[in-house]
Amino acid sequence: MKISVIGCGYLGAVHAAAMAELGHEVVGIDVDSNKVAALAAGRAPFFEPGLPELLLAGVESGRLSFTTDMSAVKGAKVHFIAVGTPQRKGEHAADLTYVDAAVDSLIPYLSAGDLVAGKSTVPVGTAARLASKVADAGSGAMLAWNPEFLREGFAVLDTISPDRLVYGLPSGEQHALAKDHLDEVYATALSKDTPLVVTDYATAELVKVSANAFLATKISFINAMAEIAEVTGADVTQLADAIGYDARIGRRFLNAGVGFGGGCLPKDIRAFTARAEELGRGESVAFLKEVDAINLRRRQKVVDSVVAALDGDVFNKRVAVLGLAFKPDSDDIRDSPALDVAAQLKGLGADVIATDPEAIDNARRTHPQLAYTTDLEEAFTGAAAVVVVTEWKLYRAFSPARALQLASGSVIIDGRNCLDATAWRAAGWTYQGLGRP
Ligand code: UDX
Repeated sequence: MKISVIGCGYLGAVHAAAMAELGHEVVGIDVDSNKVAALAAGRAPFFEPGLPELLLAGVESGRLSFTTDMSAVKGAKVHFIAVGTPQRKGEHAADLTYVDAAVDSLIPYLSAGDLVAGKSTVPVGTAARLASKVADAGSGAMLAWNPEFLREGFAVLDTISPDRLVYGLPSGEQHALAKDHLDEVYATALSKDTPLVVTDYATAELVKVSANAFLATKISFINAMAEIAEVTGADVTQLADAIGYDARIGRRFLNAGVGFGGGCLPKDIRAFTARAEELGRGESVAFLKEVDAINLRRRQKVVDSVVAALDGDVFNKRVAVLGLAFKPDSDDIRDSPALDVAAQLKGLGADVIATDPEAIDNARRTHPQLAYTTDLEEAFTGAAAVVVVTEWKLYRAFSPARALQLASGSVIIDGRNCLDATAWRAAGWTYQGLGRP
């Protein structure tokens, strides 16, 4: 099938490459000519495991192309909208400027029977509004909402083998045709019995935001337990293991630490709250404000722990910050707790040296005041205190004995509870996790 993907960021670029891998003919459109040039040459403009190989294979096969020229969408049967919906400046609501601009610029090229398939995370009600816009233009094209659940770091896998598919379809005579189009796109996944939920626009939009709200709540729940553990001497990691054995609860997303960040969870819970308030149902999701507050408190807790470990004063003291990305296997620093901790320590006058295997270039652009090194040994060198804020494998694998030789102090704050506490203590470190004695 010929497919277009509008918006080639973390979501769209992966979607385009994965659809080409599945045998479709795909054109990706983006307004950023640098991004398009890289993608068209088969290079990933951001770090995502498996994506470079997929891009290269797609471009070389001739099935995958990228351009800034919207007219290239002509002839495609399904047009995916994969642009960003960031938080509005100074507000909690989502900024839909890019979604509307994408649909507006797509409309002149639509033909009868074409399907516009929204993937971006949007406030409930957006799909119905955009469907009217498409209908009013009179081309005979249709609109569906088809939310995406990919996780950065696993984006290729999640796109090729999703754990479920959700179609928010138009009602009436367009329903069957829209479903046929999406079934053709996802034929491979459907042939492997991937669960499919066929529903209306509002439900499809809500599936995405409520899934992210649930995940954020799960993380903040365990971080709230960490706060209680901290005043009682309990160990939140053991607590998570013990409650996680209950299949109704499950162990995943119960890792206490510096909290969640990224381009989705934080802004999605805020946008959901704002939308619910608009709908007169603010009280229904008022708890998400608490989820957000608990999450942000954990960043402060990590900063406070570093200050306390350095006898209440970090001024001019060397602090090594291990991690900048919001999670490992990503170079994404959007709303990153790690970068926030580094910036806060710097703001307190600490001599911060920050390291990350992938996210330094991005971090340097937004936080030029920080000192960076890609060399982990250099980061440890002379550090009075060390703080781990992204659980990259290489930090877990680093020798605590070697780290102690390099550092000037011996305090390590594990903001992700990811290190082997026993090994670090045995090597002579004062190890401090979060929510752990
Ligand atoms: C999330 C959703 O998981 C995905 O389904 C959706 O499509 C987009 O948003 P992503 O932003 O890639 O994906 O990251 P995710 O793996 O969910 O992690 C989000 C944040 O939570 C990270 O900062 C991570 O470090 C943190 N986290 C995760 C925890 O603090 N504890 C956990 O137990 C799990």
